[in-house]
Parts: sequence; structure tokens; C-alpha cells
Amino acid sequence: MADIGKDIHRAKQLLTEGKLVAIPTETVYGLAANALNEKAVLEIFKAKNRPHFDPLIVHMANLAQAETLAYAFPEKAKLLAQKFWPGPLTLLVPKKEIVPDLVTSGLNTVGLRCPDHALTLQLLQNLPFSLAAPSANPFGYVSPTTPQHVNEQLGDKVAYILDGGECRVGIESTILGFDNEQATVFRLGGLAIEQLEPITGPLHIQLHSSSNPHAPGQLQSHYAPVKKIILGTQLYLQAYSKLHAGTIMFQKALPGIPANRQIILSEKGDLEEAAQNLFAALRALDKTSIDIILAELVPEVGLGRAINDRLRRAAH
Ligand code: TXA
Ligand code: MG
Repeated sequence: MADIGKDIHRAKQLLTEGKLVAIPTETVYGLAANALNEKAVLEIFKAKNRPHFDPLIVHMANLAQAETLAYAFPEKAKLLAQKFWPGPLTLLVPKKEIVPDLVTSGLNTVGLRCPDHALTLQLLQNLPFSLAAPSANPFGYVSPTTPQHVNEQLGDKVAYILDGGECRVGIESTILGFDNEQATVFRLGGLAIEQLEPITGPLHIQLHSSSNPHAPGQLQSHYAPVKKIILGTQLYLQAYSKLHAGTIMFQKALPGIPANRQIILSEKGDLEEAAQNLFAALRALDKTSIDIILAELVPEVGLGRAINDRLRRAAH
């Protein structure tokens, strides 16, 4: 098991030595290494058992630092960074040569993001390099939203876990790419499309590509717990209430299943609260003796789109 603490100097020391440190962000915990140190980055892939064709997001303290890694910043990307960074938005921009090919899986774009978390921002401001950091979970599993989640699965593979408490947003960043100023969403996430479109204009959305080797976050099966999941409306799920099931419901419990096997994401029907609770709910049910998880789809607006996207991939 790794040490968990709030010691930024220790984190800085370890990262400088090329070691892995788990860092809190507003979305999920990241498994971080010096983005410019290829050997350190290689350790990330090993620890997660992540295929090398899956590129990493690079994290920095501000737009000025991001620009040192980008060959060019499309005008819209710059506007978005100015408005939403620090925040749950990853921008795919043409990379400079100093970014190792290992980080971008050989692509000529790099995913950049400035995370909105006080402790990690303080760390990034103190480092002379940026941090490559995928979510701190074994490849294909649910992302971690607490230091304990990280410790349970990767505790023997990271040097230190920086404790930033429970993640506020709870689902990964929204990923946007640009082609001649036309923006495309490659992953729905913590920043809703409704907030982006006033700046980007109508967005293209390209979430699936069955054979795309460049973005496994787009794989139809990802973010998945071990147990099987059945997805649907409350009415649809009702048909399965005779099973030894646990539930993840939006606002109200499913009739016919004991309360101690049910998790309500947000009694008041708040999609932000539901997003924050989603991954912890999947992990909690995965640890119980139930046979199957019944999960209710939420309204397909705002963060609801990203929640449903994660549920569909988890169920696939
Ligand atoms: O919220 C987040 O984005 C979290 C926190 C830690 O920042 N990070 C995260 O990283 O979710 P990860 O590695 O689990 O997911 C990153 C996704 C992957 O699906 C990857 O394929 C895609 O971003 N990606 C990264 N760089 C890319 C690039 N240059 N082109 C296309 N997709 C890229
Ligand atoms: Mg991930």
C-alpha cells in the first residue's frame, strides 16, 4: 500500500526522480509522471497495464505552460482555455517535438488540460515540467474518485498518493479536438456541451469508433466494473427485481429490492451530484455479493449525457 498525504514537497521530489505519484483533480485521480521523461512515462503504462496505442493527457498549471508544448493553438482552443481552465476540459492540439511520442502514442496532437484542484495546481506551479496523467485505475476499469480507490488497485505501484479528498466533478474531462476551427467532442465529460457551444458553435460529436486505435476512451466497453450491468428506465429495470441485484438509481429506489442494496445518485435530481457519486457507486456494488447491477439512465441533458455514456460503456 502507498502512503497517502498532503505533502507537495514529497510529491515533487518523487516526480523529479521519475517516480509515479497519484494526484487529485476535480474530475478523477490521475496517475502522474514527468511528461518529458520517457522512462517515467513508460512506468505509467506498465502500472495500468495500458496498451501503448492509448495516448495520455498532459497536465499543467496554466495556458502559458500549455503553449510551450503546443506547436500551435487554434484560436477557438485558446478561447476555451481562457474561459474554462482550470477545469474539466482537455484540448487536443498539434504537439511540439519535446513531447515524447510515447505520451501521444505517435499522434501529432497532444491532449492538454489544466486541472481545477488547489493542491495539484500548487504542485504544478512548483514543478519545472508538466505531468502526464491518465486516470489512476487499471486499464478498462472504473476511474478512482478518492485516494482509497487508488490505493486499493494501484497501491503497490505508486510511490505516493497526494490526498485531495473526494473529487468534486467525479467523471473525466470532456475532450475536444479541432479541425480548421471546427471542434469535435471525442469524449463527453465534466464540462457539458451546452456550456461549450456558445464559444465553439455547433459541435460534432464522435464518441465511437470501433476500430480507432487512437482513443480507447472511445471503446464501447470501458469504465467497466467486474459485475454485469443491466441498464434502463425505472420501469424497464422493474422486470429484473426478482434477481439478487443491487441498483444505481437516479432519484428514487427501485421497488422490490432491499434498501441496503440500492444506491441513489441524487435524491434531489441534481445531475452534478449524480456525476460526483457515480464511480464510487459502481465500485461499492462491485464489492458486494450481488449477482448483477441494475442501473437507471438519467435525463440526457447537461452532465446527464456523460453519465449515460459511462453507464453504457460500463454495461457493454
Ligand atoms: O479528467 C481527466 O481527463 C482525467 C484526469 C486525471 O485528468 N484523465 C483521464 O485520462 O481521464 P485517461 O488516460 O484515462 O483518458 C484519456 C483519454 C483516452 O481515452 C485517450 O485515448 C484520449 O484521452 N487522448 C489523449 N490524448 C489524445 C490524443 N492526442 N488524441 C486523441 N485522444 C487522446
Ligand atoms: Mg481512464
